[in-house]
Formats: sequence, structure tokens, C-alpha cells
Amino acid sequence: MQIYNTFGLEATANQYVEFSSEKELCHFLDQGINQPYLVVGGGSNLVFTRHYPGVVMRMANKGISIQSHPQTPNTVLVTATAGEVWDEFVRYCILHQCYGAENLVAIPGCVGAAPVQNVGAYGVEAKDIIHEVRAIHIATAQPRIFKAQECQFGYRSSIFKTQLSGQYIITSVTFSLSTQFTPQVEYQALRDALTNQGISHPTPTQLADTITQVRWSKLPRPEEMGSAGSFFKNPEVSTAEYEALKERYPDLVAFPLPNGYKLSAGWLIQQAGWKGRSLGRCGVYAKQALVLVNHGQCTGSEVLALADAITSDVKKLFGVSLQKEAIII
Ligand code: EPU
Repeated sequence: MQIYNTFGLEATANQYVEFSSEKELCHFLDQGINQPYLVVGGGSNLVFTRHYPGVVMRMANKGISIQSHPQTPNTVLVTATAGEVWDEFVRYCILHQCYGAENLVAIPGCVGAAPVQNVGAYGVEAKDIIHEVRAIHIATAQPRIFKAQECQFGYRSSIFKTQLSGQYIITSVTFSLSTQFTPQVEYQALRDALTNQGISHPTPTQLADTITQVRWSKLPRPEEMGSAGSFFKNPEVSTAEYEALKERYPDLVAFPLPNGYKLSAGWLIQQAGWKGRSLGRCGVYAKQALVLVNHGQCTGSEVLALADAITSDVKKLFGVSLQKEAIII
């Protein structure tokens, strides 16, 4: 499985199967799966800690189509198959003047994984543009369409990761995009990067290119260093917890939510002294403490040992429990 996870962890599975169409997938499911199974996408959020004693399945279907929205003017419905590379899909949309996905450019992974953990970056989440998700029920091989409101999207979460985890394979996603470009530039580092280039009204391509630059100035490129992107989620705390912490730590980095605050896990980890440090061959990325990186031949157990040490120190120092964003196998 080493080439199927961006952390580059060495691992094996009983069997690995890729499907180039829904028909192929259904044919496989019709035969019955008599072993544990795991559905993967681009492997950019996965940490293998052991041999997987079952079959690993991946949709590798390709194709993107664009239709006008039947009811809403200036809106298009873009359907992308699960196996399309996410970044290529975003660039395809820009090229075809379908707007709304620009801020999600350069996120590693495949289209089919985007709804599962509601990927997000630079002020936009996949849920903001998802219209519906098509998936196959693994037990019956029957298709089902999930309207966006049925997907129970939350911060790095959806029904596919919670209530229906392991029950469906997503085969395509339809996005509702606009034919009119409205740049979303609330994220400060993005505004700064545009200003530095003397750009006040970015074109869609300028926006996507600048986001790509900002992204790679903070995060390791998968081809240069193994990682799973943000390893932890930013923890959500009550207003009372936030106020108590803010009194003790005036520099605390936090963002208001309707019912509390989201703390910056990167800041907590940095304050706990872990930024740039390593344990064995696994390290905390020097430019972004939320990212754990593979310094070469690192094992899943080393990743977990480092994650546990960080979690324990952050808990001791701030009383806050970090939750993993990455999926541990
Ligand atoms: N910060 C630190 N030290 C660090 C890292 C961050 O103090 O080492 C503080 C800084 O004040 C910084 C703030 O935290 O301004 C926010 O950092 P950043 O903008 O890098 O965002 P993040 O909250 O650490 C989240 C997502 C990223 C996404 C960025 C940008 C999660 C778990 N991560 O990171 O998503 O790219 O925002 O929108 O929500 C991913 O999920 O894999 C991912 C990379």
C-alpha cells in the first residue's frame, strides 16, 4: 500500500482492487465480499499502522461533465467521477469558466474523498459547492443519490464518515458552480500574497495560482515529503473554556463559532514545543505544526507514538484534547 498513501508508509493488504466504472464495482460487489474491506481515495488522509487483513477498494473512474442548472440562471452543475484527481478537477472547472472551487485548488486526493471529510481550505469547504453525491451501497450494490442536505456536512466530517461509515462507495459528485467569478479572499495570507504581487482584482487563474503558492509555502508538497496534510483537527471549545484559556494565554489563536470557539491546533502544538521536532523518523513540520511528516522510512507506529506524545503534552498544558483528522488503519 506504500504508493497508495501520501505519508509513504510501508504496508500491505490481503487484496487491492481498482474499479474503472460503477458497473465494474457493482459486478465485484455482486460476488459478495467475504473479508473486511476498506475504501480509499488518493490516500492523502490515511495512516497505515499494520497489515490490512482484507480488501482495499478504490474507484478509479474518470470523466467530468457540465450541464446548465435547470432552474437557477448563471449556475452550472458539474459532475466529476470519484477517481478524478481533485486538483485537476478544480483546474478543469476554471478552464471551463465554472467558478466556486478555486480556493480548494492543490488539495491532494481524489474527487470521491472530498465529500467524505468535507475538505476545506482558505475560507471554502467542499460543502459550499456540493449539489449531490452518487454512491453505491456496498451490501446491496444499489446506487443512491445523497442531496447535499442529506450528507450532514460538518467540519472535516459528513454522514460518510459517521453514521454511514464503511457502507457506501462514492462514485461521482455533482457540484453547483457559478458562471460568474466572485473571488473569495477573506483569508489574510491570501490577501497579503495578492497585494505583494500588486493584484487587487485577481482573475480566476491568478487566484488559483496564488492559493497554490500560499499552500505550498506552509505545507509540504507530497512529492518532497510524506504527510497526511493536517494530522489533527482544530479543536472546538465552549466560550467559557476559551475565555479561561485566553486569560492564561493572551496570544491564544482562536476563531469564533456560533456556539464557542475553534482553537488553532498548530498554535497549541507549537506552544507545547513540538514544532520542527521529531520522534524516531516521524517529525512535526517546521513550517506548520499541524502537519506530521515522514523523514524517511517512517512506520505507522512511529507516527502514532509522535501523535500520542503531542496529544498528551497539549492536554497537560492546555487541558484540550486533540482529535486526529487523519484516518488510522
Ligand atoms: N499557527 C501557529 N503555528 C503553526 C501553525 C498555525 O501558530 O505551526 C496559527 C497561526 O496563527 C496561523 C493560524 O494558526 O495564522 C492558522 O494556521 P493556518 O492558516 O495554516 O491554518 P490551520 O488552521 O492550521 C487549516 C486546515 C488546513 C487548511 C488551512 C487553510 C484543519 C485541520 N486544517 O489549517 O487544511 O489548508 O486551514 O485554510 O482545519 C487539511 O485539512 O489537511 C489542511 C491542510
